[in-house]
Amino acid sequence: MKSIAIIGAGYVGLVTATCFAELGNDVVCVDNNAAKVAGLEAGEIPFYEPSLAEMVTRNTQAKRLGFTTDISAAVRRAEVIFIAVGTPMRSDGHADLSAVRAVAREIGLALDGPKIVVSKSTVPVETGEMISSIIREHAPGDYAVSVVSNPEFLREGSAVSDFLKPDRVVVGCSDATAEAAMRDLYAPLDAPLVVTDVRTSEMIKYAANAFLATKISFINEIANICELLDVDVRAVCAGIGYDQRIGTKFLNPGIGYGGSCFPKDVRALEQLAVERDYPAPLLHSVELVNRRQVERTVMKFERELGGLNGKTIAVLGLAFKPNTDDVRDAPAIAIIQRLLDRGAKVRAHDPIANAAAAQVLGPNVALHDTMYDAVEGADALLLATEWNEFRSLDFTRCAKAMRGDLILDGRNIFEPEKVRAAGLRYLGVGRVKLR
Ligand code: NAD
Ligand code: UGA
Repeated sequence: MKSIAIIGAGYVGLVTATCFAELGNDVVCVDNNAAKVAGLEAGEIPFYEPSLAEMVTRNTQAKRLGFTTDISAAVRRAEVIFIAVGTPMRSDGHADLSAVRAVAREIGLALDGPKIVVSKSTVPVETGEMISSIIREHAPGDYAVSVVSNPEFLREGSAVSDFLKPDRVVVGCSDATAEAAMRDLYAPLDAPLVVTDVRTSEMIKYAANAFLATKISFINEIANICELLDVDVRAVCAGIGYDQRIGTKFLNPGIGYGGSCFPKDVRALEQLAVERDYPAPLLHSVELVNRRQVERTVMKFERELGGLNGKTIAVLGLAFKPNTDDVRDAPAIAIIQRLLDRGAKVRAHDPIANAAAAQVLGPNVALHDTMYDAVEGADALLLATEWNEFRSLDFTRCAKAMRGDLILDGRNIFEPEKVRAAGLRYLGVGRVKLR
């Protein structure tokens, strides 16, 4: 059992801290947002993540998990320090490493002995070397510090089970002591361990996210072509998915990928290549197809409604995917902003993310407490996020409540026949000929 400090109490940091505590380690989770730390100390989880709250409570009560704003104290008491702060996209597409740099500096200043410093944030190749040199520059003495890369592959909405039952754990490090410590930490998970050098491990994370994003843009492009040829993309997915080299996972066409990671990580990897004179045309296209998927959705409304000015669109789902309240880079938000720009009115509902969406969208969008309130008087409906409760939408009730008759199923979760039986028109993604 180890003494661990996790810096950053966001989606990754809080889940990592809680799960390592659950495995019996002594964990302190640090954040420089004092309100967040106060909330966590009072048992409030700062975001929605299934089954996390109970686990946080259990481990704080067992005194295996604590929260603080005091990074120096946390660093001094820990054998292993995880950096799990955000690495958002800069306006030029590069990863913004300012939080990672700030934390490395504070770790350096607080050093009083040998430490293992692990980067869990998603960072460009060479960041491990940067962390190492910042720590050395600020350390008060010549302490042995091993910098390890241990990227995280959890998904929001299933973060706890993804962490505890990973397909693999990747560890990039250059010394035997750090490798042994990482093997000990992850031993209870009984997952395959891929051990590499630090740079390779950093690259593995970007390659994994870029590949998954590529699968989505690929199937979205196939879906768009299917629409033009009157072919159902779902049957195409089944037909190609049985080929085990292809597989069925991550081949759901829709309104595009969103979230705090795929968009930024594809761009960051592209930028890493571009600045070394390789234009990375595939990554560029993955991103382009994704942006166009949003435009294409708006275009479908424009075409089917004969323009958007003065039209009312009901949007079901605002989070970038179900089971999270995260609206960062959510396609629903991007589509709504374009609908508003073209003069439409938007009424919307998300089971969990209404509050987060209100902060981004402001007062121009009417956010409703139920899905049926949102569809009232709408000319058309967009299913943007496939929350389970939307699967049982009562189309007859919608038909009565709506002014118009168009349902655009942005995640292909409805049966077109059921929608049509209620007297509504159905459009999916890659399911119905568009012209
Ligand atoms: P987040 O924005 O939810 O959380 C980051 C936290 O770090 C915030 O609470 C912030 O207050 C804190 N922080 C920032 N600067 C700090 C400092 N100097 N000292 C202490 N705390 C500080 O971010 P996230 O979604 O958890 O992502 C973190 C990293 O993990 C990113 O690199 C991301 O790409 C990667 N990642 C995210 C996911 C995911 O599903 N969200 C999955 C895998 C990897
Ligand atoms: C993704 C990866 O799946 C994680 O492995 C990774 O750790 C994480 O990014 C990260 O680095 O942050 P996440 O963003 O939480 O996880 O969610 P996903 O389930 O991957 O979905 C991402 C987006 O792709 C969502 O907008 C989703 O709707 C979309 N998607 C996903 C599709 O459009 N089609 C699919 O078939 C799958």
